[in-house]
Amino acid sequence: MHPLLNIGVRAARRAGDLIIRHINQLDAIKVDTKGRNDFVSEVDRMAEDDIIQTVRRSYPDHAFLAEESGASGDAEFVWIIDPLDGTTNFLHGFPVFAVSIAVMHRGRLEHGVIYDPMRQELFTCSRGTGATVDGRKMRVSDTRHLATSLIGTGFPFKEDPESIDPYMGMLRDVICQTAGARRPGAAALDLAYVAAGRLDGFWEIGLNIWDIAAGALMIQECGGIVTDLGGRDGWQQSGNVVAGNPRIHEALLKLIEPHLTPGLRR
Ligand code: IPD
Ligand code: CA
Ligand code: CA
Repeated sequence: MHPLLNIGVRAARRAGDLIIRHINQLDAIKVDTKGRNDFVSEVDRMAEDDIIQTVRRSYPDHAFLAEESGASGDAEFVWIIDPLDGTTNFLHGFPVFAVSIAVMHRGRLEHGVIYDPMRQELFTCSRGTGATVDGRKMRVSDTRHLATSLIGTGFPFKEDPESIDPYMGMLRDVICQTAGARRPGAAALDLAYVAAGRLDGFWEIGLNIWDIAAGALMIQECGGIVTDLGGRDGWQQSGNVVAGNPRIHEALLKLIEPHLTPGLRR
């Protein structure tokens, strides 16, 4: 395992253990509201601090882009961190959440770790060497047709009139044309599941780079495709993501296209 990935795994496991230690005291956890339907708890912050400290012990000069503390440092290596993806689930005791960590070098994603502390499942990838779940090689699914596909998604839960109506059109078509749609509530895990072939495709509007970075590299390393809603590369900027095995990705893009507004096309 690459030394950077090794530290990422250590940091993700530590953060996952910290999160689990709080799962039985949810009533005592302090929660702040970042915006409508957007929460952050002291557990998110503690997990993030712990990840940054773990990385800093080995790489004191590296930079960070972390959900709760923002950007810090100036270096060729940037650690992109979502300390607790699925905070709403966690706060309700709904057992679907994860830690997501990616390493970028000179603007290119190189390593990714997604850790599900409830199932103690560890997803990892490094550019050019593929991806594994608990040490086993992963591949995207070979499902060829939408009709037999299982598709993951996330709702545009922040009050966003620009995306809610087009999204509902997309969701309607996905529900009608596929074997099923799922909204588990942790985008990083959804992406890891596409990489592992458990989901055939996924789309969501308005994600952040820390939700996507590790999972996107993982999907690419497993033979899948990640684009924005228009089939282009701009997902890191827009946060709008369509992912899947190559055939389902193409079919999803076609399904989504008629619902796109000029704003969502960008
Ligand atoms: C959220 C989850 C959710 C997705 C949201 C994200 P958070 O992350 O990934 O599945 O629908 O868009 O913001 O806030 O729990 O880290
Ligand atoms: Ca997140
Ligand atoms: Ca988060």
